[in-house]
Amino acid sequence: MIIAIDGPLASGKGTLARALAAHYGLPHLDTGALYRATALQLINKNIEPSNESEAIKAANALDLSLFENPELRSAKTGAGASVVAAFPEVRKALYDFQVNFANQEGGAVLDGRDIGTVICPNADFKFFVVADANERAERRHRELLEKGEEIALETLITQIKERDERDSNRNDAPLTMAKDAHLLDTSGLSIERVIEKACAIIDANR
Ligand code: CDP
Repeated sequence: MIIAIDGPLASGKGTLARALAAHYGLPHLDTGALYRATALQLINKNIEPSNESEAIKAANALDLSLFENPELRSAKTGAGASVVAAFPEVRKALYDFQVNFANQEGGAVLDGRDIGTVICPNADFKFFVVADANERAERRHRELLEKGEEIALETLITQIKERDERDSNRNDAPLTMAKDAHLLDTSGLSIERVIEKACAIIDANR
């Protein structure tokens, strides 16, 4: 069973993906981490994420140790990820890894921006997770504070707007809901309730 989960920043897609993976005993891939690692590779070398040729080089020689680096989750790396993710050659470099992960025996859960549309168009279940913009900003603010990153809520709101805009309007694999995806609005809902709703959809149709 392949479960594809997409949605904008801090919509709750990662939490839902991890929960469904645990519930159904499936491996999980946070595809955003691939774009974040590409960006972090550049940031660590003082190269701007907007440097297309360097971004392509980084994506083609991804340093997997960066997955464990605490900086992977920083707001700066997230912003950089959204910049490198707009380069088609970067997306191409990361494509096979994601498709192979999805097609492993038994299936998998993947979350990102283009899973239901580009990476797994034939997924058994697709969810598009959304939430109110202010709530998303507050959630991410809390997550970053817990990880020791202090950032003003207003700065984060601006970053979120920029990132939503860039991710939704790029030419290659923009963030859009697949026609056959289930829309899950997590605004005001507890994590448990969101998981319950998704499991109900899966269990009724598998
Ligand atoms: O966790 P958060 O919502 O902040 O973002 P993420 O999933 O870690 O992804 C970081 C950035 O990578 C996004 O803003 C996208 O630009 C890009 N991304 C993408 O283009 N396609 C994916 N499948 C996953 C992430």
